[in-house]
Amino acid sequence: MRKEIEICLGSSCFSRGNKKTVHLIKDYIKNHQLEDKIYFHGNHCYGNCENGPILKIDSKEYQNVSPDNIIFLLDSIFMKD
Ligand code: FES
Repeated sequence: MRKEIEICLGSSCFSRGNKKTVHLIKDYIKNHQLEDKIYFHGNHCYGNCENGPILKIDSKEYQNVSPDNIIFLLDSIFMKD
């Protein structure tokens, strides 16, 4: 089944890292040829800015996502099999 990644593009998360993280995720999907397996899209503020930047994968919320830890997070989910 296709997985869904939603990234918060609200101003707080966007300015504190998600601006860059968007591109890292796009590159990751492309480099691993996951275009058919992942539906990636942006969303507006989830109202949880203080714990942001926020990312959701299949509705599970990940907090304090950053350009430094996003690859590790994606690997732990998509590269385990
Ligand atoms: S801007 Fe991301 S939760 Fe508010």
